[in-house]
Amino acid sequence: MFEHPDFDDHQHISFFCDKKAGLRAITAIHSTSSIGTSGGGCRIYPYVSDGDALRDVLRLSRAMSYKLALVGLPAGGATTVVIADPARDKSEPLLRALGRAIHRLGGKYVVAADVGTTPEDMEMIAQETPYVVGRSTTSGDTSPATGYGVYVGIKTALQHGLGRDSLDGLEVAVQGVGAVGYNMCRHLVRDGAKLWVADVNRGAVDRAVEAFGAKRVSVEEIYDLEVDVFAPCAMGSVLNDETIGRLRCKIVCGAANNQLATEKHADVLRARGILYVPDFVVNAGGIIGAGIGGAQKNYDQAQAFERTEKIAEILTEVFARAKAKDVSPHVAAVGLAKEKLASFG
Ligand code: NAI
Repeated sequence: MFEHPDFDDHQHISFFCDKKAGLRAITAIHSTSSIGTSGGGCRIYPYVSDGDALRDVLRLSRAMSYKLALVGLPAGGATTVVIADPARDKSEPLLRALGRAIHRLGGKYVVAADVGTTPEDMEMIAQETPYVVGRSTTSGDTSPATGYGVYVGIKTALQHGLGRDSLDGLEVAVQGVGAVGYNMCRHLVRDGAKLWVADVNRGAVDRAVEAFGAKRVSVEEIYDLEVDVFAPCAMGSVLNDETIGRLRCKIVCGAANNQLATEKHADVLRARGILYVPDFVVNAGGIIGAGIGGAQKNYDQAQAFERTEKIAEILTEVFARAKAKDVSPHVAAVGLAKEKLASFG
């Protein structure tokens, strides 16, 4: 474990098993910060192997630490992954067993929804533990603020990378038009951008074509388009040995977590002259808008958007540091986050 390439001095890793309930899960707490607790999503996904699940939980929890540190929130980063197919295996016994497992961590970890889990699932987990945010009875939707944050990120990257202020006529290829991707598109289109969209869910593409006049492309073609911006808003590891060589964009900026297959791919993008905007900076809008307690039902979205503008400030610092140190923005952002984490003690 300690030799694992994605192990980054994580404070605590728990492996949970409840055979009767069908639960196999891992919680990784990367850091707990000064207030002694950590937070992060629970992903339920049919991982092909335990190794894939471990790799994902190590990387997601570390990215969560970086994200919270950069936005200045006093909590550490953590993540839970459950090895299961949410469509087939998710059940009340499984979620309640997960709730009991989380409770055994005694408040060192507070769970929230992520890919494969919903606010209703958080409600079920809350039957077993109070260490939950984002329950359906109490929470609002954070994806509009996350989408707005990615839009702010694209605007900042355009100014920095291309010296361009206007989005009028900007060509953007969007991979995944789910909750966040769709919300990001709303802002881009309002400013005059032209969109190409791909999604494995046909209904999601139909919705974007109808609402935004976006052009439909296949999930394979999306990498090959000659556009200004490629915006990955679906799954991780999409920037890899196979795809980077195909990209014909100037900027990569999107919401998906862990877009880089490995850290070295940030340098591969830089060598190709593509400005890669670190995912854990631009997808922080939800957490900035909602705070660590999660969005309350009646939370003020206009205020959340206003707070999310902070992403422009953080990115500007990241780009300046990258230039000064002659490194990629990803390396600069990781360095900045580590300094902030160290300063929290
Ligand atoms: P979502 O599940 O609503 O949307 C994801 C979309 O991607 C779905 O429409 C899905 O059909 C599509 N998709 C899946 N595989 C695909 C593929 N291979 N090619 C094209 N499309 C594909 O999820 P959401 O909430 O929009 O999140 C998107 C990404 O942003 C995820 O990686 C998530 O971890 C990340 N994120 C989300 C936040 C939030 O506030 N919801 C906050 C921070 C990060």
